[in-house]
Amino acid sequence: MSRLQPLNSARRKDIMIHSLLVFLLPVLAKALDNGLVRTPPMGWLAWERFRCNTDCKNDPDNCISDRLFRTMADLVVSEGYAAVGYEYINIDDCWLDKERSYTGQLQPDPVRFPYGIKDLSNYIHSKGLKFGIYEDYGNYTCAGYPGILGSLELDALTFASWDVDYVKVDGCYSLPRDMDIGYPEFGYFLNRTGRPMVYSCSWPVYQIYAGIQPNFSSIIENCNLWRNFDDIQDSWSSLESIIDYYGNNQDSIVPNAGPGHWNDPDMLIVGNFGLSYEQSKTQMAMWAILAAPLLMSVDLRSIRPEYKAILQNRKIIAVDQDPLGIQGRRIYKHKGIEIWARPISPLYQNYFSYAIAFLNRRTDGTPSDVAVTLHEMGLVASGGYRIEDLYEDVDYGILTPQTKIKVKVNPSGVVILRANVQPSYAPTTPYDPFRTGFPAVNRNSFKKKRSIEIIS
Ligand SMILES: *[C@@H]1O[C@H](CO)[C@@H](O)[C@H](O)[C@H]1NC(C)=O
Ligand SMILES: *[C@@H]1O[C@H](CO)[C@@H](O)[C@H](O)[C@H]1NC(C)=O
Ligand SMILES: *[C@@H]1O[C@H](CO)[C@@H](O)[C@H](O)[C@H]1NC(C)=O
Repeated sequence: MSRLQPLNSARRKDIMIHSLLVFLLPVLAKALDNGLVRTPPMGWLAWERFRCNTDCKNDPDNCISDRLFRTMADLVVSEGYAAVGYEYINIDDCWLDKERSYTGQLQPDPVRFPYGIKDLSNYIHSKGLKFGIYEDYGNYTCAGYPGILGSLELDALTFASWDVDYVKVDGCYSLPRDMDIGYPEFGYFLNRTGRPMVYSCSWPVYQIYAGIQPNFSSIIENCNLWRNFDDIQDSWSSLESIIDYYGNNQDSIVPNAGPGHWNDPDMLIVGNFGLSYEQSKTQMAMWAILAAPLLMSVDLRSIRPEYKAILQNRKIIAVDQDPLGIQGRRIYKHKGIEIWARPISPLYQNYFSYAIAFLNRRTDGTPSDVAVTLHEMGLVASGGYRIEDLYEDVDYGILTPQTKIKVKVNPSGVVILRANVQPSYAPTTPYDPFRTGFPAVNRNSFKKKRSIEIIS
């Protein structure tokens, strides 16, 4: 039962139609032009892990406070996250005082942010990082603090005066119909401040929940990123529901992504309580395939080294940050096995390179084999592809489109490969089972796990 047969011919046809045609659809809409996030933003965001903990008296280490953000900024630098690209330190809900100031300005809770937001922003900038904040296009934030409705211009100016680099605007306590005007209006005021600020919108998700078809050409024109679906929770089932949403709705979602404008499937929960090691690898790989923002929401003081290594996997981050900015899609789904592919650089003539994720959603507790040729996955360039396993760091050399590979995927786990297209004049290297991408002979590489087998 656990061994899957090679894909049947009907499925092969599905895969080819998808991979050859749909990736080439261009985005015709005009996009927000503030020069920011040409690749998906990377950083740390408080919400999923720290929520609305305001109890600094009893839980000073974990409450939403100046201290928490300074500590995480320190760790993003000292623990090497900044060196691999994590850059934004972002506040979420529950930073505000319940009242605006007597002049009508937003102000932080005076006990939890005793030095003010500008001082925190300065500190984060002094670490070479960028600073993000949260608000809500409504009368209140989701947790009941003052929203921006009625004060859009003043609040945009306040954020600029605090040297904010990134603004997430939620959609509680507002009318989803009003968002078509409200989100662009706030974006206009952000722009008018003259300070470039990444604009993260929750606009489509609230409209979808209200049964309104979002106007994505307007969303792309006004926002740098936006949420399409539920908040992520600390569980595999939550992660699966997000992966399914993006797969099931990919025809309408994928074309909206591109440099400066991204779909946001929500935070990375790698290193928290709810995901196993395999499942954590799955989230990181899938977020890279989805060209997703990589916003970690985890306690960087206590994260275990194996989870930190997942978050710092440079090869997977490079897929996420690919300059072409094309979001990947699900090209195969059958009996709990999925194959996802994302076109990436470099290109050779009209052929893309690809990141390919093999995802095993089965729960029978043994790895499943997936047998497929490169050609069946849309990898048809006659010069072949250099195939590399991005978690196991194994380089399988150059394989031709006709090559059939068998990939062993752990339950709720993933194998993610990078397939770099080769010029057609390159001689194809005969397959050498001991070949690796590291120094010609690297003893360690013999011990590396080989997740794929070349079967013909
Ligand atoms: C926001 O508050 C104003 C003033 O109380 C009220 O008129 C308006 O209906 C509220 N808007 C929403 C979306 O609740
Ligand atoms: C404001 O918008 C204009 C026109 O899209 C753009 O060129 C400019 O960079 C924007 N400025 C900021 C600060 O976002
Ligand atoms: C969607 O937004 C675009 C650009 O802002 C606008 O031109 C178009 O009329 C809108 N479409 C609908 C159906 O409202």
